[in-house]
Amino acid sequence: MPLVGSKEMFKKAYEGNYAIGAFNVNDMEILQGIVDGAKEENAPLILQVSAGARKYARHEYLVHLVQAALETCDLPIVLHLDHGEDFDICKKCVDGGFTSVMIDASKYPFEENVRLTKQVVDYAHDKGVVVEAELGKLAGVEDNISVTEKDAIFTDPAQVAEFVAKTGVDSLAVAIGTSHGAYKFKGEPKLDFDRLEKIQKLVPGFPLVLHGSSSVPEDLVKMCNDYGGQIPGARGVPEEMISQASKMAVCKVNIDTDLRLAMTGTIRRIFAENPSEFDPRKYLGPARDAVKTVVKRKIKYLGCGGKA
Ligand code: G3H
Ligand code: 13P
Ligand code: ZN
Repeated sequence: MPLVGSKEMFKKAYEGNYAIGAFNVNDMEILQGIVDGAKEENAPLILQVSAGARKYARHEYLVHLVQAALETCDLPIVLHLDHGEDFDICKKCVDGGFTSVMIDASKYPFEENVRLTKQVVDYAHDKGVVVEAELGKLAGVEDNISVTEKDAIFTDPAQVAEFVAKTGVDSLAVAIGTSHGAYKFKGEPKLDFDRLEKIQKLVPGFPLVLHGSSSVPEDLVKMCNDYGGQIPGARGVPEEMISQASKMAVCKVNIDTDLRLAMTGTIRRIFAENPSEFDPRKYLGPARDAVKTVVKRKIKYLGCGGKA
């Protein structure tokens, strides 16, 4: 099956009260782990690539790896640019085979966010590619750009309908308390579900996106720390909260950190337990399996298993 866009996928997810997992791809093992997990759960899939991933693995390699995934499974798969920061990178991905792009102009004032988003929408729609934008600002770190908690701003529901109407965007990432990375909450985890509900009522039927949705499972953090890692106090969004959002207007849930923890913890453990091992397949293979295990668990609580 060729790559698909996310329009139909989101429509079904919205109506069926579930969400699609959007997983960040940086290399072959991560990709295979994600696809193996989705295959076993028969789940639709969004594979997303950040600017950092494009720089690391290179655009053509990533596109061809995803092509190989398509040739070896029957799942509906979207190839999505994660956090495109300007028109140029979105254009490159639209022209370079992606079926979905995100223009993240959330750091700009409202009018500039609208202008840049609309510029990308006009270009992408012309080529049959869908667009995600962001309104409000998440805290956390992506590509080493750090937004402090102080600078994070929750999405203002009053702006959402105007933003959607003015830009023609296909989906919208909202800030309701999630953040990127492994340190999401200092105290009790809390998401602003009232805000999410308000937004949902103001743009009924419109698909929303939740970034920063890793759960940072205790067992993965422990595995990293037990074998020489130093990530004390890491904390994510509880799975029940992600499930709750998935039953609302949230149709796409972004996961990267949990895959990183699974891979790194596994590799650390193998290095510690087998110091004489130096065949990369002996640690990258189990790391790939660990990614698969995480993805299968996500699919279960997003509710998208069996929906491919
Ligand atoms: O939203 C951020 C994703 O986790 C991607 O991270 O920019 O370091 O590839 P990255
Ligand atoms: P996490 O850091 O919670 O995995 O979020 C990833 C993300 O939002 C990618 O866009
Ligand atoms: Zn993100």
